[in-house]
Amino acid sequence: MTKAKPATFAMLKKPIRVHRGWLLAFRLMIHSIATVLLGLAYYNAINGNVSGDPVQYLLDFTGIGALNLMILSLLTSPAANTLKFAQLMVVRKTLGVYAAIYALAHLYAFTAYELQYEWGLVLSEIVERPYITVGMVALIILFVMLLTSFSAARMKLGKYWQRIHNFVYVAVLLGCLHFLWSVTSNWTEPSVYMGITLILLYLRRKKIQKIFK
Ligand code: HEM
Repeated sequence: MTKAKPATFAMLKKPIRVHRGWLLAFRLMIHSIATVLLGLAYYNAINGNVSGDPVQYLLDFTGIGALNLMILSLLTSPAANTLKFAQLMVVRKTLGVYAAIYALAHLYAFTAYELQYEWGLVLSEIVERPYITVGMVALIILFVMLLTSFSAARMKLGKYWQRIHNFVYVAVLLGCLHFLWSVTSNWTEPSVYMGITLILLYLRRKKIQKIFK
């Protein structure tokens, strides 16, 4: 006789369902927080309200912001499974869209303020500095995902849509690698980001193995 599997926390828990209005309010809250924080960061940097170098401040804020949003978006699926709260998945796309917007704001800070629109210099930095090349590849992936995040694009692309969006795992790994590579001392923060990302990818190992088989 086969032994019955012990019940896990997720099996014992009752599924959570909330009114659609709460989900809408939650998404609106994410939209507001992400937009206001990004706007404030640029406003404070441009008006000299930050201590230290405003360009470095913007690069830090937008770079860390993009990484936080990518990681939060990857966290939604394990959180929804563990809490038996399937509706939570509606915020995954919102978080992903803001991750791409923050990464674009990061590139903008670099191009407009750090390199003063010297396009030749921008290109040579991207090509010649490996940590920037890696960041650029991550950004291109996020940008393609942003452009194809609409329902119409999903319908048009069919099975290719999922293939494109699976590259989020590559983008988050490259984002962490770019962060690790950009520091010359104090590896703690980028190592913590890389550690959290590797744990989240490990949780999805079966899905990832299937994708890249
Ligand atoms: C998804 C894409 C990207 C992510 C997630 C990302 C993330 C980050 C993070 C977390 C940092 C460190 C901030 C800190 O020190 O607190 C950083 C620094 C930086 N990133 Fe990115 N980045 C991305 C793409 C890019 C791109 C496309 C460029 C330029 C073409 C770029 C240029 C830089 C530069 C110049 C720094 C500053 C390094 C320094 O402190 O000297 N990044 N990025």
